Amino acid sequence: MRILITGAHGLLGQKLALIYGQETEHEILLTDLAPQTFFRNPRFDYHQLDITRLGDVKSLLSQYQPDLIINTAAVTDVDGCEEDRLNAWRLNVDGVKNLLIPARRIPGCRLVQLSSDYVFDGTKPPYDEQSRPHPVSYYGKSKLAAENALLASAVDGLIVRTQVLYGTGFEVRMNFVAWVLSQLERGQPFRVVTDQKGNPTMADDLAFAILKLVERNCRGVYHVSGPESIDRFSFARKIAVIFEFDPALIGPTTSREIGQFANRPPDSTFITLKVESECDYHLSDVEQGLVRLRQQYKEGSAHTDLLKDSRFQ
Ligand SMILES: NC(=O)c1ccc[n+]([C@@H]2O[C@H](COP(=O)([O-])OP(=O)(O)OC[C@H]3O[C@@H](n4cnc5c(N)ncnc54)[C@H](OP(=O)(O)O)[C@@H]3O)[C@@H](O)[C@H]2O)c1
Repeated sequence: MRILITGAHGLLGQKLALIYGQETEHEILLTDLAPQTFFRNPRFDYHQLDITRLGDVKSLLSQYQPDLIINTAAVTDVDGCEEDRLNAWRLNVDGVKNLLIPARRIPGCRLVQLSSDYVFDGTKPPYDEQSRPHPVSYYGKSKLAAENALLASAVDGLIVRTQVLYGTGFEVRMNFVAWVLSQLERGQPFRVVTDQKGNPTMADDLAFAILKLVERNCRGVYHVSGPESIDRFSFARKIAVIFEFDPALIGPTTSREIGQFANRPPDSTFITLKVESECDYHLSDVEQGLVRLRQQYKEGSAHTDLLKDSRFQ
């Protein structure tokens, strides 16, 4: 297969590159906004691509003729999407349409689109793939609109909804676990909300699950997350315990108290039976994921240091 990955320098994009590089012999074209890549694996080709530029997307796709596109590029800053709605729509919705337009003309080309638990309002958990979406934030609306664009298109689509993604990577955006660790390292008390609950998902596991879903030719919507649902406060305390910090540094608060700009679903717990049964794959639970992450930090040291990791070379 010829596989094109967008947003390949992001957290999930990096994990997909590593997994596809290790586990398959497919041809891989990584793309992102940067003019050059930090990946040094000679098996990877790299091309600069801004998916909001239809002309560039058309020309790269018609030249490369991918069998599979995995679109991880997105604005993932939920409050940022609320503040700059035009930008959120341009990337999260129009960007997907820009991929679909040329993909339609490539025989057999499939698209994997990453989506989110934020398509739900979080008032009637747990959610399976049949549950009715009702986003309460602009980010959630944009992700749902992208899903609908894919489902309404003539392109074979796989929609992977995930949540509370964490992991290490080279210069990746702050995720919840990395933020908690950075706070704990400062040694000052801080507060975490008790009224937002969901299934933490290790990015490495998500990448592997995507590989399995693709291998099995799965189509339609899949909920892919860790199996365990936990509120953010309890999750933060588990992070502290596993990384050997003092959990008492973390105090409870509420979403109302911290006044986040965008609304969040209070409980978007997923039912993940579909992916587990169809792919015979179980993602790490909270403790397993955090223990593996701690090991990765030890081996590769800090996130900024991953270029020294032999997997990139
Ligand atoms: N993170 C979560 O908790 C979470 C939860 C549910 C669903 N998801 C979904 O999972 C997917 C992957 O998330 P992630 O956390 O890996 O995201 P991420 O780390 O923010 O990676 C996104 C990548 O896309 C790049 N990008 C930005 N604008 C672009 C453009 N116009 N054209 C091409 N690439 C562009 C970014 O580059 P720059 O860094 O230079 O901007 C970045 O490398 C997203 O679709 C997200 O909505 C994430």
